[in-house]
Amino acid sequence: MTAGTLRGRLALSLSLTLAVTVMLGGGALIVSQSRALERQLDASLRAHARSEIETATDRPDHLAHLHNDTLDVSGTRGETLSLAKYAALYAGDGRVLAQTSTFDRRAPRWNPRWMNAAFDLRASGAPLRAVVLPMGAQTEARALLLAVPRGPLDATVRDQALIAAALLAVAVALATGVATWLARWLTRDLDAIARTAREVSHGDLDARVGVVGGVAEIRALALDLDQMIARLAGLVATQRRFVSDAAHELRAPLTSLRGELELALRRPRTADEYREALTRAHADVLSLAALADDLLALARARTDAANATARVGDATARVVELLRAAGDERNVTLTAAVPEGLTVRFAPRDLERVVRNLAENALRHAPAGSTVRITAEPHERSVILAVEDDGEGVPVEQAERIFEPFVRLDPARQRDAGGTGLGLAITRELCRAAGGDVTLDLHREGAGARFVVRMMRG
Ligand SMILES: Nc1ncnc2c1ncn2[C@@H]1O[C@H](COP(=O)(O)OP(=O)(O)O)[C@@H](O)[C@H]1O
Ligand SMILES: [Mg+2]
Repeated sequence: MTAGTLRGRLALSLSLTLAVTVMLGGGALIVSQSRALERQLDASLRAHARSEIETATDRPDHLAHLHNDTLDVSGTRGETLSLAKYAALYAGDGRVLAQTSTFDRRAPRWNPRWMNAAFDLRASGAPLRAVVLPMGAQTEARALLLAVPRGPLDATVRDQALIAAALLAVAVALATGVATWLARWLTRDLDAIARTAREVSHGDLDARVGVVGGVAEIRALALDLDQMIARLAGLVATQRRFVSDAAHELRAPLTSLRGELELALRRPRTADEYREALTRAHADVLSLAALADDLLALARARTDAANATARVGDATARVVELLRAAGDERNVTLTAAVPEGLTVRFAPRDLERVVRNLAENALRHAPAGSTVRITAEPHERSVILAVEDDGEGVPVEQAERIFEPFVRLDPARQRDAGGTGLGLAITRELCRAAGGDVTLDLHREGAGARFVVRMMRG
C-alpha cells in the first residue's frame, strides 16, 4: 500500500487526523489536570499557612517561630502525601526572622511581589511551590512563606502524560487498522472496475464488472460502466454487421458485372450482342455507383450536423419536379401541400434528400392511378412533414426494422426497381442529426404507408 493510492491516502489521512485530534485533546486534558492539581496544592498550602500563622506566635514571649515538621497534602487519588515543609518568616524590611531547617542555608531573599501570591520557587537545589501570606499585627514578622517540593506533583502529571501517550499510541494503531480496513472496503470494487476497463480497452467487449457490494456510489459507477460496455458492444456488433452487409451488397453487382464481361469475352460477338452486354454491365455499374453514393451519404449524415435553415416549400417543390417523370411512368401523381414560408432547422440539401427518399419509396409502392401526398404542418416549435401513399403499407412489426441499413421487405423487387436499401437509414440519420426524427405512422387509417418527419422550426 503506497501513499499514492487512494487506499493509502485514505488510511494515512484518517490515522493522521485521529493522531492529531487525540494529541490535542490529550494535551489539553493534561494541561488542565496539572493546573487543577496546582490549584489544589495552592489551596492546601494556604490552609496550612493560615494555621501556621495562628501558631507562629503561640509562645509566651510572642516571638515568631516556625515548626519543623512535614506537610500533609492530599494527592490526586485522595491519598495523603507527607511532603518536606519549607517555611520562612520575613520582617517588614525583608529580613529573615525564622526559617525551617529544610532550607540548607538561608531562606530565599524577600520579594515584595510575593505577598498573597502562589508561585514556583527554586531553593536548596529543588523546585518548590510556595505561597506567601501576611502575618497578624502582634509580631514584628510581616509575612510567612510556606513551600513544598514540586516533585510529587510533577511526577503525577508525568505519569498521566505517559498514560496518555500510551493511549495515543494504541488509539493511532487501532485507527490505522480501522482506516486501512475501511479504505480497503471502500475501494475494493474500484479494482474490479479498473480491471474491467482494462479488459475492454484490450478488446474484450464481453467483460463486465458484475454485481459489486460495498458503497452505493461505486455500485452505481459499476452499473454505469457495465451499461456503457453493453452499448459499446452493441455498437461494435452493429458496425460489423453493417460492414459485412455492405460487402455483400457490393458483391452482387460485381459478380453480375464480372459474369457479363466474361461471357461477352468468351468468343467474338455481333455488335448487337456487345451492345446488350454493355447495357447490362452499365446497369450493374449504375447500381454500384448508387450504393457507393448512399454509403457516402450515410457516413456523412452521421458526422455533419449543419446549423442551417431550409424552406420546406422549396425542398418539396424540387422533389415533385425531380420525380415527375418517374411518377408519370408509373401513372402515379405526386402532390405537395406546404404552407408559404415555412422554414426548418435543416441543411437544404439534406432536407431535399429526406423528402426525395420518402417520395421515391412511396412512388414505388403506390398503385397505378393513385396519388402520393406530401404535406407539412407547423407546430409551436416543430414542423411535421408527412409522405403518404396508398400502397401495401408496412407491417407494424417491421416499422423500426425498415430504418436499418440494407433492410428491404420486398425481396422480389430487390435490386432492379428498388434502391440500395439505405434510403430510410440515411433519412433517419439526417433527421436525427438535425435534431428531429422520422418514423412510420402506426396509427394511419386504411391501407398504405405514412412516413412522418419531425423537424425543429427554423
Ligand atoms: N412507402 C412504403 N410502402 C411500403 N414499404 C416501404 C415504403 N417505404 C419503404 N418501405 C420498405 O422499407 C424498405 C427500406 O426502404 P429504403 O431504406 O428506402 O430502401 P430501398 O428503397 O432501397 O428498398 C423498403 O425496401 C420497403 O420494403
Ligand atoms: Mg428507398
